[in-house]
Amino acid sequence: MQNTSLIFGKKIVLGVSGSIAAYKSAELVRLLVKAGAQVRVVMTKDALEFITPLTLATLSQHPVHSDFTENYDQGTWVNHVELGLWADVILVAPATANTLSKMASGQSDNLLLAVLLSARCPVIVAPAMDLDMYSHAGTQANLATLQERSITVIAAEDGFLASGLHGQGRLAEPAHILANLEEHFLKLAPLHGLRALVTAGPTNESIDAVRFIGNRSSGKMGFAIAKRLAELGASVTLISGPVNLSTPHPAIGRKNIETAEELLNACLEESPTSDVIVMSAAVADYRVVHQTQGKIKKDDSALVLELTPTVDILAELGRRKRDRQILVGFALETDNEIEHAQGKLQRKNLDLIVLNSLRDAGAGFGHDTNQITLIDKQNNLVRFELKSKSEVAHDIVEKIIALCAC
Ligand code: CTP
Repeated sequence: MQNTSLIFGKKIVLGVSGSIAAYKSAELVRLLVKAGAQVRVVMTKDALEFITPLTLATLSQHPVHSDFTENYDQGTWVNHVELGLWADVILVAPATANTLSKMASGQSDNLLLAVLLSARCPVIVAPAMDLDMYSHAGTQANLATLQERSITVIAAEDGFLASGLHGQGRLAEPAHILANLEEHFLKLAPLHGLRALVTAGPTNESIDAVRFIGNRSSGKMGFAIAKRLAELGASVTLISGPVNLSTPHPAIGRKNIETAEELLNACLEESPTSDVIVMSAAVADYRVVHQTQGKIKKDDSALVLELTPTVDILAELGRRKRDRQILVGFALETDNEIEHAQGKLQRKNLDLIVLNSLRDAGAGFGHDTNQITLIDKQNNLVRFELKSKSEVAHDIVEKIIALCAC
């Protein structure tokens, strides 16, 4: 069974060179777009003779590029470097004998070749030509050269050829090319198959129709963790309190909640099927007992709000933790940090706790940076430097991967 989720959100430059098999590029673009990829097509001049750019632009939902300059009156320059750097992968399909030869010798006399020379991402080629051209020592030597440079070659397939002959030279079927791409992304996705639940942001507890008790959590740390897990192939559900952040990865499923009770219910629904749970939400410890339906009017007397504790969601998930499930909590402390964090780790039955100290400058709520200490069940303790939240997310996820392997 094909697993197109690996292609979801990936940025793919499809290079089309001048072969009759270029008509199959239309099907390929359709399959890629259907699987959720962002596709930009670059065609050689000869490819334009076989299939119209309008077809590929319509299917890819983006203009097709075939020359270094476009719209001469406006002087638009197609930035081959930008395209090369944008892509997660460049796929050349069909790749003619001529294009393969030019790639092997590092030429750049068309836009596609210049994009390939600028690329830092992996490159995959799917050759298409007549059987004798394919088996020719020159072509085979070029393919070997490209493979030595870590370019993946999707072998041409056997069958009837446009020349009327029968043999190896046909462009691999679009479905086979898609399967190769999935295999490629699978190698880069060590967390593929893992289901992760991440909570992020604050909870707001209503006082009346217009007021609430909240906290200063921005959600940035939890969103960065969700993003990193998704980048490595995990299937991520992100449950977020009210934050000003957009979902950081197209493969993340997001649920928005407002109160601690809503967060509890969403976590209880998701947790039984989650392999890893990261509880980075800043959950309110108390909620108002009697919420006023309308707006509380002010008068001169003191206003007393009665508060009652909310459920400790993390502790509840710790009680329900199933075999091999990894539970990660956070601890935000101001004094006796390590001792308090270790206490929470044990009480809540966690595998890992991420400690933030409010005494560290640049750590905690609102900042784009964080300084953490990771403490695991075996009491291994690692203190990290002050880093961007995205780098901190990498460190946390690396530790989660190590825990999953135990
Ligand atoms: N947490 C939770 N449910 C709550 C309160 C906290 O799930 N009602 C989780 C947080 O998401 C975090 C961890 O518990 O992962 C620790 O939160 P923290 O506020 O540091 O500690 P508390 O357990 O609330 O204890 P205290 O506020 O006394 O330090």
